[in-house]
Amino acid sequence: RQNERESLFIILNFAKTFYQETLTRTEEGQSIGLSYFRERGFTNPTIEAFDLGYSVDQWSALLDEAQRKGYNTALLEKAGLVLAKEGGKVYDRFRGRVIFPIHNVAGRVIAFGARILKTDKSQPKYINSPETEVYHKSQVLYGIYQAKQTIRQEDVCYLTEGYTDVLSLYQAGIKNVVASSGTSLTIEQIRLISRFTQNVTILYDGDAAGIKAALRGLDMVLEEGLNVSVANFPDGDDPDSYVRKVGAEAFRDHLRRNTLDFITFKTDTLLRDAGDNPFKRAEVIAEVVGSIVRIPDPIKRQVFFRTTSQQLQVDEQTLISEGN
Ligand code: CTP
Ligand code: MN
Ligand code: MN
Ligand code: MN
Ligand code: MN
Repeated sequence: RQNERESLFIILNFAKTFYQETLTRTEEGQSIGLSYFRERGFTNPTIEAFDLGYSVDQWSALLDEAQRKGYNTALLEKAGLVLAKEGGKVYDRFRGRVIFPIHNVAGRVIAFGARILKTDKSQPKYINSPETEVYHKSQVLYGIYQAKQTIRQEDVCYLTEGYTDVLSLYQAGIKNVVASSGTSLTIEQIRLISRFTQNVTILYDGDAAGIKAALRGLDMVLEEGLNVSVANFPDGDDPDSYVRKVGAEAFRDHLRRNTLDFITFKTDTLLRDAGDNPFKRAEVIAEVVGSIVRIPDPIKRQVFFRTTSQQLQVDEQTLISEGN
């Protein structure tokens, strides 16, 4: 087992280097992959810090090179790098895509995300490595290796949805940033963050899905005993598009002005939907109490009951009994 894990790390590292060299040293890599990253504004230091790469639009570029170097094909398959068709014919999983290696907290490559260059309905925008012996999606946060030192220094972790949110914020000098990579946040991911800080700020996409995911995410973070805030972005923007639009300084300013503690975020969001309907407004109170009671620390819970009672003009004892 230990041996097989080590072999997987070695072959994944080989693939990482292969995709990097394809990006920087081949005609197709430069004219398609590198141009794509340039159009998105990514500079060489960012590309290098995250080991970004490119996979050519061919069926077996990686497979052929791996075989030339003597790597075992079954191991390539176990690493999620190639797939076998019925009948046994093997082909590369990632073709004609820019490559985002996923590192574990120790910096070893354990998986890949891969983005198509031009989105259309015929293919998924991103494809990712499958679960393997070394890659358990629910336990990983994209960017944690590059972010961990700054998370500790700044004592806060910015949590985004996507690969490119991490890259753009990192490039803007906000390096304490990770992504849950489109899946809903898990307990294991929150525990990973808690090794470096007790403070999480959720920066999800400014659309209905992002807001919904933030509401769900904040309850989980609270339950793990961490402090959580949320910053919103205009509808249609995500942290990546927003920081490119306004620049690093204005982005930081946006965070300073628009980061809400979880109660204010949840209350504002839900009250907006409730409008003037008194029944719906009452439900909002119950919903907010539902978040507060998840906080394990009784003193923090008490503080948030007080805040909420003031913000919602509801008697504190009534809120507390609502939570029981
Ligand atoms: N995702 C995925 N598979 C998809 C779509 C999304 O795995 N078909 C994951 C990726 O990790 C992606 C994240 O969900 O980064 C967020 O999705 P989305 O907001 O749609 O993508 P962006 O990260 O904004 O990517 P881009 O800016 O390149 O469009
Ligand atoms: Mn395992
Ligand atoms: Mn989205
Ligand atoms: Mn985006
Ligand atoms: Mn997005």
